[in-house]
Amino acid sequence: MQLIDGKAVASHFKAQIAEEVQQLKAQSGKTPHLVAILVGTNGASETYVAHKVKACAELGFESTLVRFDETVTEAELLDKVREINENPDMDGLIVQLPLPAHINPDAVMETIHPAKDVDGFHPINIGRMAKGLPAYISATPQGCLMLLEHYGIETAGKHCVVVGRSQIVGLPMSILMQRNTYPGNCTVTITHSKTKNLAEICRQADILVGALGRPEFITADMVKEGAVVLDVGLERVPDASKKSGFSLKGDVKFDEVAPKTSFITPVPGGVGQMTIISLMQNTLLAAKGSIY
Ligand code: GUN
Repeated sequence: MQLIDGKAVASHFKAQIAEEVQQLKAQSGKTPHLVAILVGTNGASETYVAHKVKACAELGFESTLVRFDETVTEAELLDKVREINENPDMDGLIVQLPLPAHINPDAVMETIHPAKDVDGFHPINIGRMAKGLPAYISATPQGCLMLLEHYGIETAGKHCVVVGRSQIVGLPMSILMQRNTYPGNCTVTITHSKTKNLAEICRQADILVGALGRPEFITADMVKEGAVVLDVGLERVPDASKKSGFSLKGDVKFDEVAPKTSFITPVPGGVGQMTIISLMQNTLLAAKGSIY
């Protein structure tokens, strides 16, 4: 079993991105600028956005955090998105999910200009990705691909089982893994809450992606000997022994699954580290105008 060290891979890419940012600044005087909109005070979202803002500072990006109270109306939020779309100094825009129930996330995603949609959530970016055209690719699936590539893990002809069909991870991951490029060329099965014989299907996976958002759902009996396991889950589970009152768990029961695998990502320290890197890469592409 080899542990996929997301932190080490992330620091490799961080150095590379920071270097490219300096080059861009020297050549064109431009500093990549990421804007994050945060609605309300959800603890996990606060943490994720704080990590993104911190990464911007570390890598030489400019960042702006726009906060709204959770009572903000959809119209007010959309107005802010349109204002940022029009601002040529702002390269990338993300609206942290989840949003309060009275705001339609699809309306928000579709209002972000596709050229600034560094989360890759706009239907145009998802469609372009599916067609293999240049597009912003959703950060978490992109991070998974970067890990597979970094460790030189063979994917062609392998059976990849994706557990979870979320629009931001499961769905794009399944599309990416079937493309005819590396890492890809997999036979892909996407599973979800209505899937029958889930354990049996998971046991057929050469590459198993846990992206359903249920702590420690994937157990050893669901994993084939020698499989590659990517754990996208990141859930806060109450833990009285921790100062924070919670511990972070993935979708995979790591201790019992890890010995059966050839490669596995830990939580924390696995895929999550790469999500931020992908977002920074997308923002750099936006600043360079590389995609649109
Ligand atoms: N919520 C959970 N993951 C993400 C993400 O990658 N981007 C945004 N905007 N919200 C999220």
